[in-house]
Amino acid sequence: MNRELRKTVIAGNWKMNMLASDLGSFVSGLLPQISGFKSWCDAAVCTPFVLLPAATDAFKGSGVGVGAQNMSQFDSGAYTGEVSAAQLSDIGIDYVIIGHSERRQYFGETDKSVNEKLTTALKSPLIPIVCVGETLSERETGVTFELVSLQVKAALVGVSASDMRRTVIAYEPVWAIGTGKTATPEDAQEVCAAIRSVIASLYDKSTADAVTIQYGGSMNEKNAKELLAQPDIDGGLIGGASLKPDSFAAIINAANQ
Ligand code: 13P
Repeated sequence: MNRELRKTVIAGNWKMNMLASDLGSFVSGLLPQISGFKSWCDAAVCTPFVLLPAATDAFKGSGVGVGAQNMSQFDSGAYTGEVSAAQLSDIGIDYVIIGHSERRQYFGETDKSVNEKLTTALKSPLIPIVCVGETLSERETGVTFELVSLQVKAALVGVSASDMRRTVIAYEPVWAIGTGKTATPEDAQEVCAAIRSVIASLYDKSTADAVTIQYGGSMNEKNAKELLAQPDIDGGLIGGASLKPDSFAAIINAANQ
């Protein structure tokens, strides 16, 4: 286990859920249950764009980071409806999710746009969380490793070793997202270890050992401990269970091992 070499990061992905009026009770429900978390993990909540300023206020001083769920691949300019990395950093945002499977599935994101967004994000202080993962048919066809390796390699084109060290990779099997079907800890570990070897082959072992690799897909208070105990799973990207302070707190506490 190389826990000392890399950070454990537990991040909630609220997707298109929650209202500004929900923030107060979420924060007051969560914080008392996670005291001391900073000694064992970094925690963050990735909210819809419109909630980001209120969320940064609500979490101020708590140590819980705030992240966005997407950003533009462009630096600035005539891109109606888009939000830039500089705009996110400017209001104190810490993380940005890039290439979530829902964005690939519903909004036409590709390995190429994921790479462009990642390289743009890395010019800012944001910590990118790059999502990869296979669909059910890809898993059943036996191409999980090839597919995930390709997604990782395509995302990382042009990324330096030092930028790699501050990039988080989230392995999220598409068939496990929002379905209640979790990858077994062994299956999730196997793919996360494979991702680490791809990073080692692109860079070197010490860089690969420094990269945080999360698992995401129906992670909850019941399965988190076992998933997070796997040597190559350094955290979680949590959807549904991050909407409930009790469940999210239990997952943050499950990382204390
Ligand atoms: P669920 O935890 O709801 O399955 O969502 C996972 C996810 O997509 C996090 O980004």
